[in-house]
Amino acid sequence: MTTTENSNSERDPVRGRQRSRSSDNIVIQPNRNQLADTAASMILAASIISIAQRGVFTIALAGGSTPGPVYERLTTLAEIDWPRWHIFWSDERCVPPTHADSNYRMARESLLDQLPRAPGAVSRLPGELPPQEAAHVYEEAIRESVAAPDSNIPRFDLVLLGMGDDGHTASLFPGSPALNNTKDLVVADFVSKLTANRLSFTYPLINAARHVLILVSGSSKAGALSSALNGPYRPLELPVQGVQPVDGQLRWLVDAGAAQNLNQ
Ligand code: 6PG
Repeated sequence: MTTTENSNSERDPVRGRQRSRSSDNIVIQPNRNQLADTAASMILAASIISIAQRGVFTIALAGGSTPGPVYERLTTLAEIDWPRWHIFWSDERCVPPTHADSNYRMARESLLDQLPRAPGAVSRLPGELPPQEAAHVYEEAIRESVAAPDSNIPRFDLVLLGMGDDGHTASLFPGSPALNNTKDLVVADFVSKLTANRLSFTYPLINAARHVLILVSGSSKAGALSSALNGPYRPLELPVQGVQPVDGQLRWLVDAGAAQNLNQ
């Protein structure tokens, strides 16, 4: 396992504050299986600390294909105190929960249906509702159930994210107006490259988290990952760069394929 630190900073054009990359922590795993094992261990560790400190673990799951094996590994960890977990989703497609594209369905099949004990709470992002209504309803649900200790923004213990080969994360895509949304916590957005509506956490909600873990797997991501970590800061074109926890830890967990363009 290789860990490297980026240690330079530059102004953040999205939020206009000094962006420091010294918090970036990049963990490289040889392959997807070991990425899944390490991710599950990291999530378990975060849950133990959160439950010890606050009696609950609030986690927002990522969608796409990378997290599936991670969720399957979690079901094998006997140490997990599932009744203390409150599970959310950091983004969702605008489809019913039974749809093949649903991030909820992926997590239900790889995680929820396999659990030895039910989670304390599961708050699904209602992709079946009209997009704007779904975003509003989910934002209200988050505000009601995730504590906002020192600001008006609920603070997740852990937000899981992925990254697309275009540098999108959650459902924050390049050029989207959602990238400049500092008012809402959850947004509905029409993604032109997909010709589809999506639902997503916004940067304010993501960056309020105690921990953000970005999972990146596959050589198709190598260009975007290298640009995101080593290139100029341009989050409007590489949305994953806008993930900058205000008072939290950012970790990247990537496999060798995705990391192949990174300078060691
Ligand atoms: C989604 C995700 C999205 C995903 C990336 C990576 O709903 O698709 O939230 O942001 O994390 O597109 O997807 P893969 O894991 O399939 O490469």
